Amino acid sequence: MSDFDVETIYAQIANDLRSTGLSIIENAIDPSIIQALNARIANLEENTFQTAGVGRQSDHEKNAKIRRDKICWLDKVNEQEVGYLNSMEQLKDYLNSRLFMGLFSYESHFAHYEEGAFYKKHLDAFKGKANRVLTTVFYLNDDWQDKDGGELVIYQAEDHDKELCRVVPKQGTLVTFLSDEFPHEVLPANKSRYSIAGWFRINASTAAHIDPPR
Ligand code: OGA
Ligand code: MN
Repeated sequence: MSDFDVETIYAQIANDLRSTGLSIIENAIDPSIIQALNARIANLEENTFQTAGVGRQSDHEKNAKIRRDKICWLDKVNEQEVGYLNSMEQLKDYLNSRLFMGLFSYESHFAHYEEGAFYKKHLDAFKGKANRVLTTVFYLNDDWQDKDGGELVIYQAEDHDKELCRVVPKQGTLVTFLSDEFPHEVLPANKSRYSIAGWFRINASTAAHIDPPR
């Protein structure tokens, strides 16, 4: 293992979340884990990426107006994905102990935005409804230039029409934010763009309804 200092990074994320609900950290993941993820992506056949949906609806035309990325879910059984998933689990434990967030599970997918693909402004969760409470987005794009576009635009929690900041989808950058607070969008990129979008959920189970099902 490298001497990558995860404690400092998790502490920074916790501080950011506590003060603003949003955290943007460069070089947030151990380089050996990033290497494994890139090897995984290189091995994934393009046809294992599925057209992403929006909410529960399956209207493909409507979907395509909102988002054009293709996705592939991560799984701990894959040895090139487990390092990343373990890091997110450590982050979950850290945030639970520092901020008492009650995070219960984590789900995540690779997203491939082909040249010109976008994801229009959206919230990842709706207040009161969702058990997705915390969003993570991690970027895998080596040598990404400003001219390559594809920024993540984050809007203000207080005013959804006002831009808060733009994140360049550069390899190693991890964005973490409260899922029901910050609208965001992915601008079209001028070349292929890879990210991992993930969500921590709280356990919203009741006796009649086990959610999440696993
Ligand atoms: C998402 C998302 C942002 C990105 O998948 O919900 O907002 O930069 N992704 O990939
Ligand atoms: Mn999103």
